[in-house]
Amino acid sequence: MIPRHDPQLKTFASDNYAGVHPEILQAIATANGGHQTAYGDDVYTEALQEVFQRHFGEQARAWPVFNGTAANVVSLRAMTAQWEAVICAESAHINTDEGGAPEVVGGIKLLSVPTPDGKLTPELIDRQAWGFGDVHRAQPRVVSISNSTELGTVYTPDEIAALCAHAHERGLLVHLDGSRLTNAAAALDVPMRALTTDAGVDVLSFGGTKIGLLYGEAVVVLNPDAARGIDYLRKTFMQLSSKMRFVSAQFEALLSGDLWLRNARRANAMGRRLAEAVGDIPGVEVTRPVEANAVFAVLPPDVIGRLQKRMRFYTWDEARNEVRWMCAFDTTEADVDAFAEAVAEEMGSARS
Ligand SMILES: Cc1ncc(COP(=O)(O)O)c(C=O)c1O
Repeated sequence: MIPRHDPQLKTFASDNYAGVHPEILQAIATANGGHQTAYGDDVYTEALQEVFQRHFGEQARAWPVFNGTAANVVSLRAMTAQWEAVICAESAHINTDEGGAPEVVGGIKLLSVPTPDGKLTPELIDRQAWGFGDVHRAQPRVVSISNSTELGTVYTPDEIAALCAHAHERGLLVHLDGSRLTNAAAALDVPMRALTTDAGVDVLSFGGTKIGLLYGEAVVVLNPDAARGIDYLRKTFMQLSSKMRFVSAQFEALLSGDLWLRNARRANAMGRRLAEAVGDIPGVEVTRPVEANAVFAVLPPDVIGRLQKRMRFYTWDEARNEVRWMCAFDTTEADVDAFAEAVAEEMGSARS
């Protein structure tokens, strides 16, 4: 078969536009051949528990699933009863970008809070943490945060610890959407457990796809008292992979050495480079702190239109002419420089 696309072309649309890291592809090949017990009773999935425990502590137990939306829905359903609800930022992926899956598939009530930067705080949690014992109100039970956030910001270990302490005091559990946890940890140069287990997070959706896997995310329970029924829920929600050895082998390759860190550092560094390069172009305003691998910017609508014809990326907020540019583990300095050059060119012709 010949490629049907240009394998050299990188866009700035999303980190999941990237392909598969060669070390991950190699892991899939290594796990191939012969037969292994299906549905997770294979030697790769067994070995995976120890790999996750090295990062998240002895209590941690991981359940591989197909995608991030499912990791969130399975996690949150396992943490709540039918009458309970989840507090999240208005900009949270579970609230804005999962097609209503938490509500439609999981049957989970979301209580959202507007935030300036995608991050919840103890004060913001309290905007929705009320009405306990009132049968007319869905009972707040979980606080869900994302790190890095959907707005490209990063919670520090102290911020998460404060938020978890506050949530726990109020009888709430904490879920972390770690679709980009690797990027957050790399950005702060801390181990992933500093942002999760050690800070008091109860359940984690751990992301693999955006950081080099072909596909695969995992529900990781850090506090065994915080979730129940995941073995069953994963199947009920159609997330039990029969050939699970290939998902688990990918995670082993990502997490047993420093591949996760190398990939996340590269994506973050390219985000910084892009922000610096476009930030110098008159008329382009970088709108949010660039703390991981996302760059948000406002530029004239005609320029956005012309740039999008040259290179795919998403408009984040139509009303403000704000776009989002994401860097991936395979974005190179040359890709960034060429794209910044294209932005400069289009801005130049906008002014002439
Ligand atoms: C913050 C966040 N959570 C979860 C996901 C999971 O998405 P998917 O179901 O596409 O794997 C994404 C993907 O864009 C995301 O950005």
